[in-house]
Amino acid sequence: MKKEADKTKARIKPMPNTIVSCRKDGHDNALAVGVASVASIDPVMVMIGIIPSRFSYDMVKDTGKFVVNIPTKEFSEKYMYLGTVSGRDEDKLASINTTDADIIDAPILTDCPVNIECSVVDSIQPGSHELFIGKVEKVHCDEEYLTEDNDVKWDEIDLI
Ligand SMILES: Cc1cc2nc3c(=O)[nH]c(=O)nc-3n(C[C@H](O)[C@H](O)[C@H](O)COP(=O)(O)O)c2cc1C
Repeated sequence: MKKEADKTKARIKPMPNTIVSCRKDGHDNALAVGVASVASIDPVMVMIGIIPSRFSYDMVKDTGKFVVNIPTKEFSEKYMYLGTVSGRDEDKLASINTTDADIIDAPILTDCPVNIECSVVDSIQPGSHELFIGKVEKVHCDEEYLTEDNDVKWDEIDLI
């Protein structure tokens, strides 16, 4: 028998655990983002949701650039740090390894095995989160997780 679940709690699971990194006026930041998904297969696009009160919000909104980093369980402590502390209060990336993205002006978290460089092509705010649609410019992947034809071996990555 079915009963009605509380729709405010019954979100689709599993939610992905991603880290969105961004840069504005030379300042780098990153936050944990669970509202994230594929937005288009052709052209390849992703969607991330950011609440406007986040410090990162203006950075993505104003620059139109972001990187989606996929962390592993080893990174869990840092993931929670990025998801609970604001860049308004601390330089969150001071103790996290980064390098510059290739195509866009934003940092990549090098300890995350997959990093997806994106340029915003559209956004809407139907509710709490502004949904940014990002055209995928380049995907970086640790060599050990790439197949011979450059596909990501998602099953071998110890996702959070
Ligand atoms: C597991 C998890 C998922 C989260 N998902 C989102 C999200 O999808 N969108 C969002 O705006 N904030 C999300 N947050 C909260 C932000 O990561 C958090 O408020 C962060 O401190 C904001 O950083 P900032 O102010 O430096 O941008 C999430 C936090 C956690 C722990």
